[in-house]
Amino acid sequence: MKKQTIRRILAAVTALGTVAAAMPAATVNAELVEDAKVVYETDFEDGDTSHFAPRGEDDTSVLKVEEDADAGSKVMTITERSEGWNGPAMQLDDICEPGVKYMVSVKAKAKWYNSIKVSLQYTADGSDQPSYGNLKAIQSQGEWVSFEDVKFSIPAGVHDVFVYVEGDDKADLAIDDFSLKTAPVYGIEEDIPGLKNVYADYFKIGTAVTEGELAPKSTQQLILKHFNSLTPGNELKPENMLDQKACQAEAADGDNTQVVVSLKSNARSILNFARDNHIPVRGHTLVWHSQTPGWFFKEDYTLEGDWVDEDTMRKRMENYIKGVMEVIAEEYPDVEFYAWDVVNEAWTDGGAPRDGGTYDEDRESSGWVKVYGDNSFIKDAFTFARKYAPKGCKLYYNDFNEYIQGKTEAVIKMATELKEEGLIDGIGLQSHLNVMNYGSEEPFPMAVHYGSALDKYCQTGLDIQITELDATLAQDMPVTDALLELQAKYYSDIMDAIVRNKDSISAVVFWGTTDDQSWRAWGSPLLFDEQYVAKPCFHSIIDGIEYTEPEPTEPKPTEPKPTDPKPTDLAPSETDPLPGTMYGDVDESGKVDILDVITLNKSLMVGEKLTAQGKINANVDCKGDNPDETDALNILKFVVEIISDFAEVQ
Ligand code: GLA
Repeated sequence: MKKQTIRRILAAVTALGTVAAAMPAATVNAELVEDAKVVYETDFEDGDTSHFAPRGEDDTSVLKVEEDADAGSKVMTITERSEGWNGPAMQLDDICEPGVKYMVSVKAKAKWYNSIKVSLQYTADGSDQPSYGNLKAIQSQGEWVSFEDVKFSIPAGVHDVFVYVEGDDKADLAIDDFSLKTAPVYGIEEDIPGLKNVYADYFKIGTAVTEGELAPKSTQQLILKHFNSLTPGNELKPENMLDQKACQAEAADGDNTQVVVSLKSNARSILNFARDNHIPVRGHTLVWHSQTPGWFFKEDYTLEGDWVDEDTMRKRMENYIKGVMEVIAEEYPDVEFYAWDVVNEAWTDGGAPRDGGTYDEDRESSGWVKVYGDNSFIKDAFTFARKYAPKGCKLYYNDFNEYIQGKTEAVIKMATELKEEGLIDGIGLQSHLNVMNYGSEEPFPMAVHYGSALDKYCQTGLDIQITELDATLAQDMPVTDALLELQAKYYSDIMDAIVRNKDSISAVVFWGTTDDQSWRAWGSPLLFDEQYVAKPCFHSIIDGIEYTEPEPTEPKPTEPKPTDPKPTDLAPSETDPLPGTMYGDVDESGKVDILDVITLNKSLMVGEKLTAQGKINANVDCKGDNPDETDALNILKFVVEIISDFAEVQ
């Protein structure tokens, strides 16, 4: 193990940076593994509408191709729509695959003022409830608007996948110049330090990820290289875990307090990845006003029912927490849940409980407060979490704006009381920050104020985690090198405050992987851009930190196992290990590195040919005649030192 400071590595990076300053920062070092490819495109001039159908089963709308005077060409129109969400939809089940990033472009126009949206819908296998969401919305006054390269990916285990155009109301729509392409694939930068290695002596470095975000292989590689903590972004929240029909069946059987929960395929995708790569997980989140359906607080589990009383709700809370812990322990005994956010966002900035009400009607109000009358539900939540959480799992209260004085005081007072009763282990500071506050060039919060609040939390003696860190640039401003530098400085100041408190902090988790995937994508708030290039803020937060660089991976040809027949005992075939076999060395460069992963992926994805020896070297698990995706993953694991010898996978 060799000790070194990042500054020395940075000498090289800075030299590169000088070159980069003249070009758009987003293209530095980005390695194009595969260019965009057209899946389907049409300008409707041939009159063909067969790839589209009106969305919605009982829809009356009519699709046809017509001349459009504004466009000066043929376009596809959809008229007599009965709802805003009826629109031209293209089914993707047979033409798109999970794990690939796609881009849709389309021109659209509504007959009158409308917010036109390009949206995506799919249904998880085993469910009859479609999930849908807007990919992008553009306001139109009745003129043509252009959606360009709107990105999306499809999770595994879903069916009835549609991309569609919709509006606010049933105004006639027209679309033109539709294209569906695979997005260009970029590889990650291999020649930069792994963040988790830089901070290994201080705290875990985590990321949150949603199922769709995790799909592209490069994102998985980015996570393996930089992060050693994973937070499912949405998949373990009550709205995903609760099963309304099963709860209603329990109520119909006479038990109004039984709660049925299950892991859906979206949670499984993330937990499988955590399990297979041994990444510890932060559970997020058990008791929250938001993303918790209103029916959970109502009689017979129907939104129309009366509010239940506090006793019933307490039992439901206990059953919910118990159910979540049990289902995870049963299905994922090997995943280490090292932390759970037990309660999220219970205090206002002024330090008061929220107003009572359902999230379905008002996103800020709390069903918990409505039933309990105040924030006393928090203690119940920690009591049950303590009772049912796995051994060693730490329990946190998590919130945003915790540096605003009223909230700082309320959270510290609450946490101190819970600590005295042995119910809480730590406080999570979400830390959704702004490099430039709305309409001003000042950050919010100022790094110095963030730091002084952080000092106070650390003085409670509780463990502190930064749970959702991101820092936005201003909306509607082009991302320039100067702004990226400003962001780098701000991140660096925030990280200084965190490092100063490192003895009280056990994890720093970023809320997302690459800018384009962020919930605040408009503000480019993360460390990596859309092409997986580390931004100046990545380099600024590692600058000057002493860390231990893991030994470079020596290529290790795998020794034949004692039980393996000697090569001479076998009839030669194309895949027999030749004397020169070096497992993992796909490109035959004499070493095993990320280029081997890329070479194998290229061959798997676009059929680029490997040499005969490269093919043998690539088949690291020696299963079947040909290397496959598991081999690519195993080579990556070797490169990032999750495995040290391919014998482990043979
Ligand atoms: C809050 C929640 C997170 C997430 C973000 C927005 O911070 O704690 O779970 O929903 O908002 O993505």
